Amino acid sequence: MTASYDVRDGIAVVAMDNPPVNSLGLGNRRFIAESVLRAQDDPAIRAIVLTGQGRAFCGGADIREFNKPEATTAPDLVDVIRLVEGCSKPVVAAIHGVVMGGGLELAMGCHYRVVQAGTQVALPEVRIGILPGATGTQRLPRLIGLEAALNMIVTGDTVMSDVLAAMPSQKLFDRIVPDRVVSAAIELAHAKADARPLPRSRDLKVEHPNAEAYLQFARNMVAATSRNYPAPLRCLDCVAQSVRLGFDAAVDYERAAVTELVWTPESAALRNAFFAERAASKIPDVPEETPRRIIQAVGVIGAGTMGGGISMNFLNAGIPVKILEMKQEALDRGIATIKKNYEAQVEKGELKQDKYEQRMALLSTTLDYNDLKDADLIIEAVFEELGVKEKVFKELDRVAKPGAILASNTSTLDVDKIAAFTQRPQDVVGMHFFSPANVMKLLEVVRGKETAKDVLATVMSTAKKIKKTAVVSGVCDGFIGNRMIEQYSRQAGFLLDEGATPQQVDKAIEKFGFAMGPFRMGLLAHPEGCKETGVAPRQITDEEIVQRLVYALVNEGARILEEGIASRSGEIDMVYLTGYGFPLWRGGPMHFANQVGLYNVAESMKRFAGNPRDDASFWEPAPLIRKLVAEGESFS
Ligand code: NAI
Repeated sequence: MTASYDVRDGIAVVAMDNPPVNSLGLGNRRFIAESVLRAQDDPAIRAIVLTGQGRAFCGGADIREFNKPEATTAPDLVDVIRLVEGCSKPVVAAIHGVVMGGGLELAMGCHYRVVQAGTQVALPEVRIGILPGATGTQRLPRLIGLEAALNMIVTGDTVMSDVLAAMPSQKLFDRIVPDRVVSAAIELAHAKADARPLPRSRDLKVEHPNAEAYLQFARNMVAATSRNYPAPLRCLDCVAQSVRLGFDAAVDYERAAVTELVWTPESAALRNAFFAERAASKIPDVPEETPRRIIQAVGVIGAGTMGGGISMNFLNAGIPVKILEMKQEALDRGIATIKKNYEAQVEKGELKQDKYEQRMALLSTTLDYNDLKDADLIIEAVFEELGVKEKVFKELDRVAKPGAILASNTSTLDVDKIAAFTQRPQDVVGMHFFSPANVMKLLEVVRGKETAKDVLATVMSTAKKIKKTAVVSGVCDGFIGNRMIEQYSRQAGFLLDEGATPQQVDKAIEKFGFAMGPFRMGLLAHPEGCKETGVAPRQITDEEIVQRLVYALVNEGARILEEGIASRSGEIDMVYLTGYGFPLWRGGPMHFANQVGLYNVAESMKRFAGNPRDDASFWEPAPLIRKLVAEGESFS
């Protein structure tokens, strides 16, 4: 940390520094507290400007501290805010870039706030199943009004500073400036140096002509849209206290509510997803500073279902795409589908006409491989036959420039075999998109045994640019997602053999939270009647159906982990949350198994293995599960 305390003409300029967004780790909290006390005690200082170095004022809590003792070591954020607010000299926040979560709560504890236009403002805590628990639910309604504050806190949405500053009667920002926010804050600090009493957001009243009726209406809306998630309603309860209770009592209420939410399984699940997504972008043996190759032009082979959707991702991100096909008719069909998709978005008002035209202008087509010689990344999405892939990759090897990344969208074939069709296996990688490829968030990045580290690093960064959640998978049949779904489908089949109906199976797993059951998903044919097994059908409970389907995923997931196909259980969870409709509030199959307890999972497997109508070998727990149970550990 190179945080700084400078004195400029009687003003202490305190600049936090904790890259990348000056999050409020213990070091930063101590620094702010010590700086404020130092300035307060120094008779030469008349006022304080609090700012952040780099690209943000402050992004909130330091996620690196989660679950570590530093997170609860004093001073906590509430202590720091109390100190800032109680300072006998004016504290002016100079805000730019990002002011979120605890960062916004800190800013709201300052006496004055100067903001730069284009700053992102949010209280996003609800997205990890909690609420802004350092006085945020009490200060924001006082500063921007009940309705606007409730909306921000319940959704966690980001609002630009320009929008907030333009709101009539808002008190969040005293000034908005196009740039040079610290100079503007110093100016304000001089102007307010002798102002007393100092304005405190805690002293403001929340004005609303009909607060209780509005809160009731809002409660109905939130309840209807947040089924399965307790945090949004608790956010509302807290905000409601801003009109019912005095500040201190309401803050006590907020504290109790956030403490309660932290322990809910939904919050644990959302935090798991939050951390897993961040961790998935880091590959254990690929250093973060690995230089990326430059991706400015993309080639796509095949204009079918996947090729079209894949192309749209890059066009949406402003990256030119050239699609190659075997025949003009296939190209025409593919382009027509892309146009149709965009036009539907324009019609629904999701895409502006000029944006649509800009995107289409980035798209070109060819029937000639030589036209791909300038592409930095070429993604193949042709028929799923090794022979066809061989032809395509030999052609690509002939024409692609040195250093171009050659990717296959294969869903089942061996990426190492595909790489071996070229003289440059280090440049070959799997990019397994999910259908519809322009919509689905998941991208499995399949790492061949020779795939170069900078190729992987580049593909991961590119995935971010095209807004995908990328998860690295080793080479195996079905990679992570489809390999697991195979076992899930088999188990669904066994359930039918025992007398469950497809409707019952779908209904049970959908009630658990899956977007679609295995039969509606089309994983298994919907049988006409149930198969004759020679065993009398028995009544199977929904609970058993859910356990058998989910534990089938978990058992295969454990094998995938022990084989090193995935490097962390969180990656498997991300695959299922973003590609297979696993309920987000349950955190993914591996997280869910951790919550149930692996001992209990293994015991259930034993029970299923003892069922003469199930397949005992199916329920042999993966060695990793046995080991973790013996050690009393979980997947993470
Ligand atoms: P598709 O049949 O819709 O499209 C394939 C296209 O490739 C056709 O337009 C065809 O004319 C073209 N093509 C075939 N051979 C070619 C060649 N030698 N040179 C140039 N173009 C050629 O197939 P789809 O569904 O788009 O699948 C493509 C690939 O994506 C396959 O490897 C498939 O396994 C994979 N995939 C498919 C998913 C899906 O849900 N459809 C999901 C994930 C991966």
